[in-house]
Amino acid sequence: MSTFKSLNPTNLSDVVVETKLATPDEIADAARRAKAAQKSWAKMPAPARGRVIANAGRLFENNKEALSKLVTREMGKVYREALGDVQEVIDTCDFFLGEGRRLYGQTVPSEMPNKNLFTFRMPVGTALIITAGNFPAAVPSWYIIPALLTGNSVVWKPSEYTPAVAEAMTAIFHAAGVPKDVLITVVAEGKETFEGMVKGLDEGTINKVGFTGSTEVGRLIGAKVGEYIQSACLELGGKNPMIIMPDADLELALDGALFAGFGTAGQRCTSLGTLWIHDSVYDKFLKMYADKVASSKVGDPMEDVLFGPMISEKYLATHEENLKLIQPHHTVLGSTGIGRITKDNPREGFVGDPDAGVFAHPTIVAGIKKEDALYNTETFGPLVTVGRFSTIEEAIDLGNDHGFGLSAAIYTSDPKSVWTFREGISAGMLSINNSTSGAEAHLPFGGNGKSGNGSRQSGIWVLDVFTRWQSLNWDWSGKLQKAQMDNEEVPHNPDFKI
Ligand code: UN1
Repeated sequence: MSTFKSLNPTNLSDVVVETKLATPDEIADAARRAKAAQKSWAKMPAPARGRVIANAGRLFENNKEALSKLVTREMGKVYREALGDVQEVIDTCDFFLGEGRRLYGQTVPSEMPNKNLFTFRMPVGTALIITAGNFPAAVPSWYIIPALLTGNSVVWKPSEYTPAVAEAMTAIFHAAGVPKDVLITVVAEGKETFEGMVKGLDEGTINKVGFTGSTEVGRLIGAKVGEYIQSACLELGGKNPMIIMPDADLELALDGALFAGFGTAGQRCTSLGTLWIHDSVYDKFLKMYADKVASSKVGDPMEDVLFGPMISEKYLATHEENLKLIQPHHTVLGSTGIGRITKDNPREGFVGDPDAGVFAHPTIVAGIKKEDALYNTETFGPLVTVGRFSTIEEAIDLGNDHGFGLSAAIYTSDPKSVWTFREGISAGMLSINNSTSGAEAHLPFGGNGKSGNGSRQSGIWVLDVFTRWQSLNWDWSGKLQKAQMDNEEVPHNPDFKI
């Protein structure tokens, strides 16, 4: 039996939990059980399922501090952000508890008399939800809550780096009244998850796959699921641009760029990728940014710091690989070193013991060009690239051309720039005078191009992920009325002129 030790990235000697890793057969078995439980869950009236979501929301609220502490302990984001991660679960419950009393279909007029047309939302069946470690509470909840509300059952495969958070969340959903087999959580590694998914797809026990993670893995999942005439909900990587126009409020932009670039140690899918600064303010704003980053506190996430550790050694290793993409024509700013922070590679003003955990220096790489590997590599760590532009058209092209399209921001006081940006940028989520990260829980969340296949999470838009439309026509005329053929023509005069 293979197991995984989830470690506290602030202090690697603290084992948060040791979890058994599921085999492909165990994942397939979970899907079978979830599938068997789905029918009776779907029979429950939607408002009653909404009550269960309301119970969950209250329980998440009552357990907010405890769960947030666990998020910080297991994943390493600063406690204030962990509270936000859990708050997003509560917000999602708030939104969907009411959806139980809506879940609207339509009544549609028929082209014939004595005939009525309707639409209904049908649950898809059983969903396999695969989520990442960076938002161990919020992102899973964006899938699980609407999936359950709309009458689906769920097999949830959380990140193997955050099994304790997943266990706590699952226990909360069960305590709220979700039947045990309607939500089953299995912790597994990527390869086994993929094999288990294929078994479930073969057996017809997995009817929807939701995946949040890298573009590379999303592509494999999307392609496989397509063979089964399904479309996955894919929430993938980003290389999110932030554009600083000459008329930007630079102090405001500084706060936004700091949070977007280094909040969650740069491990949000909405984190700032490249900061594009207009020529006229380039030197000034780059200096402001570098000074601010250099003087910000890094360290113990329970203290008042900009960011804490990376999620795990694996995430740090990827960050260190990305640092190798720095070229001689780049300027590196933002810290007293790059790579892992240790006593021998110290960060000025570090809070806590760097050698105990998985900490990385914040790194700004200035002078980025389209030809550079760092231009189109999602770095998913405390690394922000910076480049310059002279026209907004050029900035928009730079913001689009790498093919990612998740989130994008602009700082400007000119409405013309706002609307030029809105129309030209291809990302799914835009911010004006705000960070690329920090989307609210009831707007459509998702990306285009390499960032996603068009599905959207959150708010009313996710309903289309977890339900299928069923149309109904009911003819009560007592005779066969043939559409397009038996319609009554209204007499009219086509040659009429006044
Ligand atoms: C993610 O990184 O996958 O918009 C989700 C944000 C958060 C969610 C990020 N509300 O930054």
